[in-house]
Amino acid sequence: MRRLRSPEGQANPAGIYDALHAMGDVVPAPWNAYLVTGYEACSQVLRGRNWLALDAAWQERQPENYRWHNRASSDMNKTLTRLNAPDHPLQRRCLGNLFGRDTMNTLTDQVEKDVGRLLDGLSDALAHGEADYADLVGERLPISTVGGWLGIPAESHPKLVRLAHVQAYSQELLPSPVQLADACDASAELWDFFAALVDERRAAPADDTVSHWIRDLDAAEPDREVVDEMLRALTFFIALASLETTATYLSSMVWQLLREPGRWSWLADHPEHIDHALEEVLRYDPPIRFNTRYAQEDIVLAGVPIPKDSMVHVMYGAASHDPRRNEDPHSFDMLRQGSHLSFGAGSHYCMGPALARLEARALLVGLLKRFPGLRVTSPPVYEPRMAIRRVASMGVSV
Ligand code: HEM
Repeated sequence: MRRLRSPEGQANPAGIYDALHAMGDVVPAPWNAYLVTGYEACSQVLRGRNWLALDAAWQERQPENYRWHNRASSDMNKTLTRLNAPDHPLQRRCLGNLFGRDTMNTLTDQVEKDVGRLLDGLSDALAHGEADYADLVGERLPISTVGGWLGIPAESHPKLVRLAHVQAYSQELLPSPVQLADACDASAELWDFFAALVDERRAAPADDTVSHWIRDLDAAEPDREVVDEMLRALTFFIALASLETTATYLSSMVWQLLREPGRWSWLADHPEHIDHALEEVLRYDPPIRFNTRYAQEDIVLAGVPIPKDSMVHVMYGAASHDPRRNEDPHSFDMLRQGSHLSFGAGSHYCMGPALARLEARALLVGLLKRFPGLRVTSPPVYEPRMAIRRVASMGVSV
């Protein structure tokens, strides 16, 4: 795990995945947990009813320690990702499809405008030589998209991005006490921000996404406090779920397409394969490398007995590099149409693939058209995290 988190492991995990696969589909870890490395076993955990999200009840059963009994955990515990039945399916049903046709039409126009503006900025910066793509484009498109969708004023965007960077450490497997303390502060600040946003829209509803959610949910749920708490948790979690992941995706996309000569220009000549290339980026280099569930009862997974309450870490990258699922998995093949679990699977399947794909496609189309000679001058520098990854910088020039 340390190797996977290291700069080398972030940049090229293939050898680590091979070593894990050689150890088995389910590999015991020295902290009373199991690494799930095979595609089928990962899929089984994500789709199985007896593998549960690390909810508040499970955390209560853990020995009192700094890892679970803190502010970041109690905020996260109110969000979809830490809920199980019956609350989880109830909330998902209430929220429905976040990205229906009308929303997507509006967002498409907005994303295209944002892409144009950000690429103008990149062009200006490149006129002076090297520019940091991650800072100028990769990290800015997700916040302007989601910020615009939720009606968050642009002056708050940089603060939300900064807080999401810090809060993400609370979702790591083994954060240090300092990382966790900082993540707790960031979590509190983010939660307060979104609580104020929901209160403000409740007091003065307008024609924006959060006000529409309030109106729709009030019609289904008579208790306003229940509705408001659900929306605080949803908006807070959307900031965490959408910003870091999509930003990493947008940087990986450029890195994977530029690191080998020929890919960029081939794709510019074959735009009909842009969607295939974007799926291959998700398979080859998932923005989230693992996610955790616990066993509701004693279970045998891929022949390995797992005692009740043990954690299992589903390794998305190891799964999509499983040679039994994707042939020659370490080769990046834009025409592959391979399998991946990078948006999860089962009841917790990501609610934002349509938006992430929209941003990636619009940005890639714009980049290929405006910067046919783009090249990477300094490879990605990764934040040392594995659950939710981050490309902190990547130099490009033309
Ligand atoms: C490339 C970008 C993205 C990736 C790789 C990604 C990945 C994931 C994964 C793996 C999960 C499953 C977590 C689990 O099984 O516990 C998830 C859940 C979720 N994602 Fe995404 N996501 C992305 C973008 C987004 C966006 C743009 C949004 C919304 C605007 C979003 C909203 C959510 C929500 C609300 C959940 C929780 C679903 C639940 O627990 O029921 N994600 N995402």
